[in-house]
Amino acid sequence: MNEKIDPWKSIEIKDYDKVMHQFGIEKIDAVLQKLPEKHRYFERKIVFGHKSLQTVIDAVVKKKPFVMVTGLMPSGRFHLGHKLVADLMIYFQNLGAECYITTADIEAYLTRGISLEEAKKIAIDEYLINYIALGLKPKKTRFYFQSNGSKRYMNLSKLVSKKTTFNELKSIYGDLNPEKIISALTQVADILHPQLSEHGGPKPSVVPVGIDQLPHINLTRDIAARMKAECDFVLPSAVFLKLMPGLKGGKMASSDPASAVFLTDSPEEVELKIKKYAFSGGRATIEEHRKYGGNPDVDVSYQWLTFFEEDNRKLKKIYDDYKSGKLLSGELKQILINVLTAFLIEHQKKREKAKKLVDKFICED
Ligand code: TRP
Repeated sequence: MNEKIDPWKSIEIKDYDKVMHQFGIEKIDAVLQKLPEKHRYFERKIVFGHKSLQTVIDAVVKKKPFVMVTGLMPSGRFHLGHKLVADLMIYFQNLGAECYITTADIEAYLTRGISLEEAKKIAIDEYLINYIALGLKPKKTRFYFQSNGSKRYMNLSKLVSKKTTFNELKSIYGDLNPEKIISALTQVADILHPQLSEHGGPKPSVVPVGIDQLPHINLTRDIAARMKAECDFVLPSAVFLKLMPGLKGGKMASSDPASAVFLTDSPEEVELKIKKYAFSGGRATIEEHRKYGGNPDVDVSYQWLTFFEEDNRKLKKIYDDYKSGKLLSGELKQILINVLTAFLIEHQKKREKAKKLVDKFICED
């Protein structure tokens, strides 16, 4: 069975190799050594695949301009899964990218019924403030709203419809409605408009996204290729993140506080959630666990540490000790609690400072 990816449904991927094969995603291994700066997300295959990242690496190496484009869905609270995309935005900004970050308020209204006012509030309180606290700089950042983009951007979102067909959209997205069509074409314009002449013309760009956004990336690349004669766009590159598992296993969702840790959770809340909900790969009794060992590959606390424990050697030791039975489930959970609370305490202080900087980021044209 093929894996299905619907960007408007919450999805679960069983087999990432199959997804890569099925959708023509390149393995990250080939470019890993060429990356100008290491980041554990690449080394640990949390960024598991890409499309034409070499184009962007070349620009970085030759110190040519390039762009990072991504977008946020302002539909709920910012959790650890959202942090992954934010970390990559900042990674590319530090490599010299000009950053375009769109708030998908039109998409949120069309596909989730969230008002533009509500979307704006969520985008700032939940997303922008966390981005700033995580290290996003105002220089070379354009943070804008789909409902308030430049005129050329607005036009592009309509003009691109000429370069696709109803049947193509149906084959990419399955069930269609007008809202989905407008959302998809708006996203195409989000990704391509930094290459319009008013933004400095064609140049390499990279879109860091969760794998759920793959259909939009494919559509955008196809449309960009068909606009060659008019705009000469460079095909946008993309890097794809694995989906972070929810605390209980399964999906992580803002709408289910027991599945996620939010960046505004207090240390007490985090401790409680992990102790109560984190799915364990441990054995039923301590005796059995000591004897047979735990299973880190299904244990959510361990899985989360692969995202957040920065030290490779420590992580390996945790894996080995858990597998051998030396480390108990409760102890493993405590390691995760310590890592997350240390991060959150610092982060929440930075959030307070970040609140004062919001105006430096928002782009009003
Ligand atoms: N559709 C994206 C989401 O649901 C948000 C988005 C809008 C986006 N425009 C974009 C993502 C451009 C990447 C690039 O999260």
